[in-house]
Amino acid sequence: MKIFIDSGNLKEIESLVPLGIIDGITTNPSLMAKEGGDYKEILKKICGIVKGPTSAEVVATEASEMIREGRELAALDDHIVVKVPFTREGVKACKALSSEGKKVNVTLIFSAAQALLAAKVGATFVSPFVGRLDDISTSGMNLIQEIVEIFENYQFTTEVLVASTRSPMHIVEAARLGADICTCPASLIEQLFKHPLTDIGLEKFLKDWEKAQAARV
Ligand code: G3P
Repeated sequence: MKIFIDSGNLKEIESLVPLGIIDGITTNPSLMAKEGGDYKEILKKICGIVKGPTSAEVVATEASEMIREGRELAALDDHIVVKVPFTREGVKACKALSSEGKKVNVTLIFSAAQALLAAKVGATFVSPFVGRLDDISTSGMNLIQEIVEIFENYQFTTEVLVASTRSPMHIVEAARLGADICTCPASLIEQLFKHPLTDIGLEKFLKDWEKAQAARV
């Protein structure tokens, strides 16, 4: 399963990419609004660091404007994936942009029916938001299971990009269900490394080694 960073922050991205576990990036208007500087310049820098799919979201709400904006974003770098929200206009824009060979991530997916429609119009990725479903007492992971099953039934090549992940269990469960990608905030990626028994075990190994070294002199 691929891991993307859900961030527009260059420092976070620069610190995680050298680990070798990052396959791509997702951004959205809320994340980019937190960053200072020129949106497009930041996106170009991110593409240069990650060298993998980099989702950049349109802010237009009408299809022709989404298409215009999507073309502009795609021209920034070959790694750009145009992100459009799942609306009637977004579906139209996805059809047009994917027909001209651009990669499209359809976001704000909250039902399997929405994911099916996005796949039908050539989305490269669909982004179901698991955390926000959990927030309203609905299982985000059930949705992932449904989408994975539907895409397998019809051999859709659209990848399931699990978004709004909030805990390590979201990542583990998504991987067990066969989701293609999880996009995670940097803090969640850090959490994936942690296990107290690893820390205790390493401390003991090093202490035992030091003791043995001291006994030899
Ligand atoms: O990838 C979508 C993500 O940024 C939304 O996450 O935690 O605001 O639901 P959250």
